[in-house]
Amino acid sequence: MKILSSFSLILALLTLVSAPIVRADAAADAQIAKGKSLYTNCVACHQATGLGVPAVFPPLAGSEVVNGSEEHLIRILLHGLSGKVTVNKVVYNGNMPAFGQGLGFNWTDEKVAAVLTYVRQAWTNKSGPITKDQVTAIRTKANRKTPWNAAELEAIK
Ligand code: HEC
Repeated sequence: MKILSSFSLILALLTLVSAPIVRADAAADAQIAKGKSLYTNCVACHQATGLGVPAVFPPLAGSEVVNGSEEHLIRILLHGLSGKVTVNKVVYNGNMPAFGQGLGFNWTDEKVAAVLTYVRQAWTNKSGPITKDQVTAIRTKANRKTPWNAAELEAIK
């Protein structure tokens, strides 16, 4: 009886301890699954492999931008990017559409966070998640209507 009750106590404790962890993983998995399906909006340019098209569409796989400053990455998705940018030593000079505003995509902060979280862990990337709250904070702070260029992003941290 004593053995049985301490056993059930341990079981109860284990359930208590593991429940929040399981929930967090499930939420992360759901965000990545959502991001993966949103990535279909990126494949025409950045390709399913995330490797882009040399000198035309920059890579997301192994990209120093995707795996670098969250401040820059979130701005690029929200508002777009144009003009000359260098990614992994290759120069691009195109137009990345805004996904967070305008007549085109006009995605919510949640969608922007999901697709960024997906690309930051897809292929060979191993960077941490982006939260909806981070996107909301930058959208508010930036208060921007036009695409960024590399020099403007450089000036931000
Ligand atoms: C119509 C083509 C097009 C689509 C669709 C597109 N991009 Fe881009 N993206 C570009 C171009 C072109 C650039 C480089 C812009 C420049 O040269 O100034 C770029 C740059 C980027 C960058 C910064 C450079 C890098 O490679 O790390 C990121 C991050 C990015 N795109 C993510 C995305 C994500 C995520 C999606 C889908 C939600 C997406 N893009 C959809 C064309 C596109």
